[in-house]
Amino acid sequence: MACVESQAFDFAGFLCPSCGGNLEITYDYAAIAKDVAAGFGFGDSRADLFRYAPLLPVKETDAPFPLRVGGTPLYSAPRLGELCGLRNLYLKDDTVNPSASTKDRAGAVALRRAIDIGANVVSVASTGNAGSSLACLSAALGLRAVVFVPEDAPTAKLTQALSFGATVYAVRGNYDDAFDLCLAASNEFGWLNRSTGYNPFTREGKKTCAYEIWESLGGRVPDRIVVPTGDGNLLSGIWKGWCDLRAVGLVDRVPKIDCAQSDSSAAICRTVRRIRDSGDSDPDWSTVVVDEVRASTAADSISVDRPRDGLAAVKSVIQSGGETATIPDEEILAAIPEMARTTGIFAEPAAAAPWAAVKQMVRDDKIDVDELVICIVSGSGLKDIANVRKTVGKPLLIDPTIDAIKNAR
Ligand SMILES: Cc1ncc(COP(=O)(O)O)c(C=O)c1O
Repeated sequence: MACVESQAFDFAGFLCPSCGGNLEITYDYAAIAKDVAAGFGFGDSRADLFRYAPLLPVKETDAPFPLRVGGTPLYSAPRLGELCGLRNLYLKDDTVNPSASTKDRAGAVALRRAIDIGANVVSVASTGNAGSSLACLSAALGLRAVVFVPEDAPTAKLTQALSFGATVYAVRGNYDDAFDLCLAASNEFGWLNRSTGYNPFTREGKKTCAYEIWESLGGRVPDRIVVPTGDGNLLSGIWKGWCDLRAVGLVDRVPKIDCAQSDSSAAICRTVRRIRDSGDSDPDWSTVVVDEVRASTAADSISVDRPRDGLAAVKSVIQSGGETATIPDEEILAAIPEMARTTGIFAEPAAAAPWAAVKQMVRDDKIDVDELVICIVSGSGLKDIANVRKTVGKPLLIDPTIDAIKNAR
């Protein structure tokens, strides 16, 4: 397949010139607070995340985004909660986004930004979901998408990206190799790189998940939000969303943000624990180095050696007073049918990690059973059937007769 065209753009400047970290976008919160007090943004009848435009880095426009991103349901999950005694458990169902994962929030804002500055080729490194999301949203917007994934990315995610017409490079190596190649290729060819932890606009999209939770709860603040974590951008985004709400005067307290990782891909949890063990809860952040690991987990979306937004995620967990939970793969996979059977929500392995984390934290007395707890369900089970199948057995194969049903075991 031919390489997509070069574009005369220089998107350098996405990283902090002194520490090399992901830049943080800031707002004039005092001015926005006045708009918000006047009812601007929140409560807007638009169903998608662009109803929060005053707190997003995009130009105001009347043109609707072609697909509905965000505006996803928050479901109460009493029967799931009961399994570990929790009385106020909710699931934020981000599987109903256009490409069936939470990544669409990041992509929508990054692509609106790309359009605002005139880019037409957008690249991404992905474990699978960011790539299928970029491909999906680019197709709807008429942009070219270039996707770099590890060669073993789940078939469904690759098939989505190809169906949407993206150029997909399956890189021999892991996600970190795909990330480095995407960065080099984007610099070489002048593509706008939407990769997580590199492009500062992704966090701005993900933070809308917090705004929606706050709205769905009628302005109440949950006690904790449990976030499946790989690069750490979803977690730092959700924390930023609550900090924004506080900055514009809509809330006066914020929830704890808990980090759920596979125990075989736990760079962020390990770093948080190391910092807490040192007894310094507010270290000089410019000197903090996030751990690296050799990740190998069935939860492919959160399989990351070197978290690209790790520092912001570590800071978010510590500043919010959140917990860390590292879960074995067997417990992550077992969480999928448990959630499905008690709530009707079908999660991919990464998206089931928060529920597995909640059970572990209740067992370890880290959560009180009366707390209002939210699990982020970040991707659909249809995206990784091969792993999900391991947890559910096989259908009963029978002849087309009533006797066969009676005799089936
Ligand atoms: C389904 C799903 N959940 C969670 C995550 C973790 O997000 P982050 O890499 O920002 O930590 C991802 C990232 O790809 C994902 O696809």
